[in-house]
Amino acid sequence: MRTVRVTFVLPGGRERVCEARLGETLLDVARQEDIAIEGACGGSMACATCHVIVEPGFFERLPVASPEEEDMLDLAESLAPTSRLGCQIALDASLDGLVVNVPKTSLLE
Ligand code: FES
Repeated sequence: MRTVRVTFVLPGGRERVCEARLGETLLDVARQEDIAIEGACGGSMACATCHVIVEPGFFERLPVASPEEEDMLDLAESLAPTSRLGCQIALDASLDGLVVNVPKTSLLE
C-alpha cells in the first residue's frame, strides 16, 4: 500500500477525506488538500498551530511524543488527552483510516 486514507474533521463536523502518501506528515496532507491548518513554523516544532486531536484507537498506534513535542503541546489551546502536533505525525500503513479532529484554534482565520 502506497497511500493511506486520512479524515480531517473540521470544526462544525464537516469531514474531509484525503488520500495521503506514506511518509507524509498530516501537515503535508492538510496543505496539499487546502485544509487551512496554520502550521506557522512549517514543521520545526516551534509552534503549536498544527495541533490536532487524534481519535482514540489511532492515538495508541502513534509513536510516543518527544519531550519537545509535549512542551509545544502544552502551549496549544483546546488540549485533549489525544492531542498531537500534526507536523509530527508521519503516515505509515498502520495509520490507514486515521481520523483527526482539527480544533478551530489550529485553522487560519
Ligand atoms: S507546524 Fe509548528 S509545531 Fe507543527
